[in-house]
Amino acid sequence: MAQRVAVVTGGMGGIGEAICMRLAKAGHQVVATYSPGNTRAGQWVNDMKARGCECNTVQVDVTDFDSCQKAVAKIQSEAGPIDILVNNAGITRDATFMKMGKSDWDAVLRTNLDSVFNMTKPACNGMVDRGWGRIINISSINGQKGQFGQTNYSAAKAGMHGFTKALAQEVARKGVTVNTISPGYIGTKMVLAVPKEIMDTKIIPQIPVGRLGKPEEVAALVAYLCTEEAAFITGANIAINGGQHMY
Ligand code: CAA
Ligand code: NAP
Repeated sequence: MAQRVAVVTGGMGGIGEAICMRLAKAGHQVVATYSPGNTRAGQWVNDMKARGCECNTVQVDVTDFDSCQKAVAKIQSEAGPIDILVNNAGITRDATFMKMGKSDWDAVLRTNLDSVFNMTKPACNGMVDRGWGRIINISSINGQKGQFGQTNYSAAKAGMHGFTKALAQEVARKGVTVNTISPGYIGTKMVLAVPKEIMDTKIIPQIPVGRLGKPEEVAALVAYLCTEEAAFITGANIAINGGQHMY
């Protein structure tokens, strides 16, 4: 199998780390991005190495186009052309719409949706020129079904899939696939921030499988979309949610 250069934004978060691990174990050269506020990048690289996973890292603020352009240029000069881009960085700022401030809206739209433009724009042309690429956008069940308390996040995550469907059409004949993965509730710090009472009474009972998902389960799906076998899957929105939302 060809070794590809794979970039995972938010690669040190709960789902991102599992994706980095899985892609590295599949033989890819992985670059994890981390945010300017993250002070544990060096330790993270050592910890991953101890677990058998070699990763490079680059700092980027995914809300900032200039920062993304510079990060992509740095990766391309140090690791080589980017073949796989996993747009995974994201945040929540949950509040009912009545209580939601403009800053909560802006932060979530910028981090979850503008980021997809900011990272894909500098990386995509090279994939098209070389005739091979994989762009995978990590959206959410809550972009598909909406979620009480998440007008901002649901809008951003739904927007990601609109982007996927349009770009997939533009680059399909150039060997580049563009897909969305929509995880349900996965056991990371993002989900652990939901009040326990809400989780136990409003969320877990709605999951037929009866548990939270695991980051590794999402990572396995990402890895499959990166294979040669997955070349005919494009413009798809693949749910991985324990049966919580079927459509
Ligand atoms: N459906 C219907 N009613 C709900 C509800 C729900 N899901 N959640 C809360 N309510 C009700 C409450 O029972 C309460 O009712 P009463 O006034 O009759 O008592 C009312 O709405 C107000 O709720 P809160 O007291 O909780 O209001 P709050 O302002 O304190 O908190 C909130 C609002 C921050 C949105 C809180 O409800 C919350 O955190 N909800 C969870 C939101 C959620 O699922 N976020 C997902 C985060 S993980 C993620 O985003 C990853 C992913 O992609 C899956
Ligand atoms: P997480 O552990 O909180 O990780 C989020 C990552 O996003 C962090 O690594 C963080 O980087 C990065 N990030 C945030 N703001 C950034 C910025 N401005 N610039 C660069 N990086 C930034 O959350 P997670 O659960 O792994 O979520 C990963 C993705 O999956 C998100 O897009 C999320 O919306 C989506 N998702 C999660 C779930 C779930 O249930 N957990 C379900 C569906 C979808 P640093 O650590 O370097 O700060």
